[in-house]
Amino acid sequence: MSTFIETQFPIARLSAESYKERKAGASQTLTGLGKWWGRKPLILVRASILGMLMPASDNPKKDREIFLKILTMDDNGTWQRNKGRIKNRATFDALTYAERLKDCERPENIEGPTTAAWAEINAHLGTTATCLPELVEQLGHRTFGHTPRVGDAFCGGGSIPFEAARIGCAAFGSDLNPVAGLLTWASLNLLGGGNEVQEEIRRFQEAVFAAADRQITEWGIEHNHRGERAEAYVYCVEVKPDGCDYYIPLSPSWVVDEYMKVIVRWRQVPESDCLKPEVAVVSNAEMAECKRTGSTVVDSRVVDPFDSSRSWSIEALRGSDGLRRWTNDDLVPRKGDVFQERLYCIRWMDSDGNRRYAAPDATDLAREAKVLKLLRERFSDWQREGFIPSKAIPESGAETDRLFRERGWTHWHHLFTPRQLLTHGLLANLSSGSQNRRLSVVTMLNMGRFADWDSRLSCWLSHKSQMSRGKNTFLNQALNTLFNYSSRPLLALTHAQISLANQSFDCTRVEVKPSDARDLGETCDFWITDPPYADAVNYHELGDFFLAWYDRQLAKVFPEWIRDARAELAVRGDGEDFRRSMVEIYKNLAQHMPDNGLQMVMFTHQDPAVWADLGMILWAAGLKATAAWTISTETEAVGIKKGNYVQGTVCLVLRKRVASEPGFLDEVYPLVEDEVKRQIASMQALDEDGEPNFNDADYQLAAYAAALKVLTQYGTLDGKDVEHEVFAVRARDEKSDFQTVIERALGIACDTLVPRGLDHSWRELSLVERYYLRALDIESRGERRKGMYEELARGFGVTDIRPLLKSDKANGTRMFTPSGLAAGLLAPIQGAESDATALPARRGRAGTGAPHPFAASPLRHLMFSIRETTAAENSPEPGRQYLRDTFGQGYWGKREGFIALLEWLAALGNAEGMNEWITDSEASRILAGRLRNDHA
Ligand SMILES: C[S@@+](CC[C@H](N)C(=O)[O-])C[C@H]1O[C@@H](n2cnc3c(N)ncnc32)[C@H](O)[C@@H]1O
Repeated sequence: MSTFIETQFPIARLSAESYKERKAGASQTLTGLGKWWGRKPLILVRASILGMLMPASDNPKKDREIFLKILTMDDNGTWQRNKGRIKNRATFDALTYAERLKDCERPENIEGPTTAAWAEINAHLGTTATCLPELVEQLGHRTFGHTPRVGDAFCGGGSIPFEAARIGCAAFGSDLNPVAGLLTWASLNLLGGGNEVQEEIRRFQEAVFAAADRQITEWGIEHNHRGERAEAYVYCVEVKPDGCDYYIPLSPSWVVDEYMKVIVRWRQVPESDCLKPEVAVVSNAEMAECKRTGSTVVDSRVVDPFDSSRSWSIEALRGSDGLRRWTNDDLVPRKGDVFQERLYCIRWMDSDGNRRYAAPDATDLAREAKVLKLLRERFSDWQREGFIPSKAIPESGAETDRLFRERGWTHWHHLFTPRQLLTHGLLANLSSGSQNRRLSVVTMLNMGRFADWDSRLSCWLSHKSQMSRGKNTFLNQALNTLFNYSSRPLLALTHAQISLANQSFDCTRVEVKPSDARDLGETCDFWITDPPYADAVNYHELGDFFLAWYDRQLAKVFPEWIRDARAELAVRGDGEDFRRSMVEIYKNLAQHMPDNGLQMVMFTHQDPAVWADLGMILWAAGLKATAAWTISTETEAVGIKKGNYVQGTVCLVLRKRVASEPGFLDEVYPLVEDEVKRQIASMQALDEDGEPNFNDADYQLAAYAAALKVLTQYGTLDGKDVEHEVFAVRARDEKSDFQTVIERALGIACDTLVPRGLDHSWRELSLVERYYLRALDIESRGERRKGMYEELARGFGVTDIRPLLKSDKANGTRMFTPSGLAAGLLAPIQGAESDATALPARRGRAGTGAPHPFAASPLRHLMFSIRETTAAENSPEPGRQYLRDTFGQGYWGKREGFIALLEWLAALGNAEGMNEWITDSEASRILAGRLRNDHA
């Protein structure tokens, strides 16, 4: 029997809910526990589990209605979640779903369906539930004979086990990385612990901070003689290049706080090679001037603040042998090191809350020295106890090698100033010693949170509209060394403590176990996984940043866990090793589920080819795809490496392939074609329902998914074994039959998506013409990612798109306009169709000298006639004459098609961001009118 998710899924509403959850930023339920990359939206996990549990009936409309009720995503449910800004129900219902959500609670933050909704749900499903856990229990018993167990073998930040447990499933989470294990354990046992546990944690954190505050006040390292207390410290690196008499402090900007109009100026001091900072409150004009010129690092060069014509390459300053490597006991740069460090600004606050910025004076520098002394006195003990890190940084990592190269840092504690180490170490010391496992976990997570928010990699960010502040280390998914950075005094660290959303659920049937997914022996009814993507995040390296702080404590609290990121076992890359590991892992998971169990694999990737690879992997692992849905889960800001990332997450639903039937390519093609068309039609229908969710990437991914759905039913294809095919050694450009089918699906998808208004003329066009028009179509809808233009080209089989692109920037790709093409493919041209083949090689296909296929196309001639119209100041005569001369009698057969194309091009100039088209669109409109009135 099929489940709901294998027949339908409310993609549009779920995308809107996922987007809302993502946009909630720090108030997402799990983010307050600690940093992890790629957490999946909880609403998506909830919907997936319920969709896998709920049986599909023969009334899909009713199924959908009930499913939405369970999630409080039906009309009554959203009204129930309305926070009250809109008082009138009719007004509320008239809004689009996304608009309604703006003022709604998230489903996770309300009780759940109303009693009336439960009555309808139970009537349809034959259950007697009054809450989600009861429903889960009853549906689970029906299918599996017990409470369903949901497992995630790549649990990361814990979204999947957490949500599974919250709605009443037994949950299992595992990850290679112990940092991920800790976060998942915490999500289940701290959040799941309910009010009592959360109150205990709150009291614990308060007590630790109060004790730390007493100690820091006694040391006198954050207070000054005016009765003020420091609220932020800002440091910078400085260098003394050869030929320069003084150290140059480095920063890309000397604006300290644009909101409070504060900048730093540097002054020379007679007889000293140290410049003196002067903190000043300035006028708007001075602020503007500082922003324009006040920078001592420009394009990787150090610029003399007193003579901007003098600059030195930073690379060269590091020297040919590189920087001196710091040793474990180096806490600050040594005399003679290329990069020195200095405090240059402090923000003070008095007891009335008044704030001011000041350059450090002698007493501040004395306090800095005292901090260093206090730290040195404790350093060895604290390292031994594990209150501060002692581990070395792995040298050859993709993320970590720059720490060696750019700063000479060799140990994780080098990423922290003495003040940071002293404060964090003090807090760790004061929190230690509890026999309570939960509180020990709180301590570790807090150490991780402090490390993220307070390191030499925490930048100082000036704002126009609010006071400046220090940001966290992992603003993006990299370990970037900085020239200037912030440091937090104790009170500012209170904001970095873990925060717990108010939750309560049964956490007795949950289990977390860090393990390589290959070795898992646990059985689950559903495996829901979100494997590491082919190139995106180096989890094992970034995780080490935190592991360095957890190390010794982890050994005490979870002695059975391996305290190493075990980089060598991490699934990564996209080559042979990646595929082998993945097949092995998914085979293992398939073996550890019942025959009627289900899997969901979530995958967000910019490159659909990688996704196609994943499909093959799952196929080879003995799984068959039964459905695939694309949900928009990523907000713009989440695409950390902004660029060609896809905003949709593909959710592939899989079952065990119990019987292995043979498949034959010639039978498979028509099935794939039908499935792709069906899938696209269902997405288009949703888009047209007033809730647009899909971009071109989503459609393309859906095409791949549809092909997989057909292919993975079979155990062999034309007698070839899948696993053998996945690992077969091939020449660079050689494709497997499987890849060919999958790419064919993309072709079908590309061809099914006809730009609106071109339906009639589409069949007449060649592939390269279709490509050009589809590319314009996506451009007019705001798509600028180069990968999308390339992917389209793949779908249409166009091998060289360069002559058609005005710009091929990664995030600024655009097609040529007719006038723009004049300088390239369109000129020179005298009229005859065959002239096109005489185009010089420069404009032909790269390297081949052959003409570009677009050059000989009727569309090119049509574009030339538009250009002629523009050149003749919108007189359509030369353009019309050109077409008649070029096509002779053929002109009359083509005329209707030309008019349709011209009218379509005429509309482009009205689209947002298509200003470049305004002139040519107007010419197209005029020419279309002239052609319409043309008579033999
Ligand atoms: C995309 S993340 C999962 C995110 C998670 N679904 C969430 O919502 O937070 C992928 C995870 O796979 C883990 N991983 C990598 N190789 C692994 C392996 N061989 N076994 C188990 N986990 C592995 C990484 O540590 C990472 O946490």
